[in-house]
Amino acid sequence: MVDAQLIPGMIEPIEQKILYELGRAIDVDKHGCVVEFGTFFGRSTACIMRGLGDRSSLTSCRPLMYAFDSFNCRADGEFAKHVRACSGQGKVEELVETVGDRINFRKVFEHYLEPHTTDGSLQIIEAEIKDSQCPCDEISLMHIDAPKFYNELKIIMDRFFPKLKNGSVIVFQDYFFHWSGTIIAAIQFLLEAGVIRISTTAASSLVTEVVDTISLDLIEGIDKKMQTSFVPTVIDRAINSMVSKVVDRPTVFLPRMCLSKIPYYWETGRYGDVRQCVIDALGVNKQNTKFDPVTMDLLDMFAYGFDAKGQYDLEHE
Ligand SMILES: C[S@@+](CC[C@H](N)C(=O)[O-])C[C@H]1O[C@@H](n2cnc3c(N)ncnc32)[C@H](O)[C@@H]1O
Repeated sequence: MVDAQLIPGMIEPIEQKILYELGRAIDVDKHGCVVEFGTFFGRSTACIMRGLGDRSSLTSCRPLMYAFDSFNCRADGEFAKHVRACSGQGKVEELVETVGDRINFRKVFEHYLEPHTTDGSLQIIEAEIKDSQCPCDEISLMHIDAPKFYNELKIIMDRFFPKLKNGSVIVFQDYFFHWSGTIIAAIQFLLEAGVIRISTTAASSLVTEVVDTISLDLIEGIDKKMQTSFVPTVIDRAINSMVSKVVDRPTVFLPRMCLSKIPYYWETGRYGDVRQCVIDALGVNKQNTKFDPVTMDLLDMFAYGFDAKGQYDLEHE
């Protein structure tokens, strides 16, 4: 059995424990397969595979889990820094290949997950999300740790969500993340449609249970709402419903939901609302929202979109 602790990766211990438990809850003979988007070096994959194996021996010759990842990134981009740091940590640098101006880390994943790919219980699918197709008829568990924006989540919704059944589980790993505004909004529409419900939260992960069929019609309806809604308004509903729930480390993860609204206010020039998002995010950890003088000055700069001259010129042109 592969030890997830030995695999450098990005998910926290509490998320690893939950993925293990979710894997262990699956009866591989009765339930559908497991699909993961965003495996990286395989830490999260190993947690789920260990859970599957602890419930029943993985002697099946059919894949029980499909691991999707592009396994590559730009050699001079931000993500390459993580790849290099993690491969150094695991002393597997020689397995990261340079291909033109990109680096590919599939061999690292193969190295760590080799027992499961060899016995056929785990299948690797090297693909961009836009090129990914569902390889099975029924899905019991999805761990979604790749799309950062709705346009890519929509592809997964279209091709994979209709294969989920009542009782299936979806883990949205990037839910409590300050860049995830459109992801939070799409999940909010799924929650409001009553097709999923929240089970628990762990670090930045939102764990949900499927309670009704997620049909293509419903997904198209949500897409229309995504096109016509102002994202911060939907995020506000998500925040309001979340504050009454038990959230893992709320002082760390709830402020991120407030921050996730900022890009949408910023791009529409609503700097006063940007300032309020920052106040709300900082205020989650305070009894009252009195800030120190430096924070007050910074809030003033937010309110002008960091461009007092531009605002002044507008007033006095
Ligand atoms: C945050 S990492 C996943 C961390 C991993 N679950 C772990 O346990 O360490 C995100 C992964 O998603 C992949 N990814 C991001 N965008 C993608 C896309 N559009 N298509 C395919 N893979 C993508 C990246 O290559 C990366 O390996």
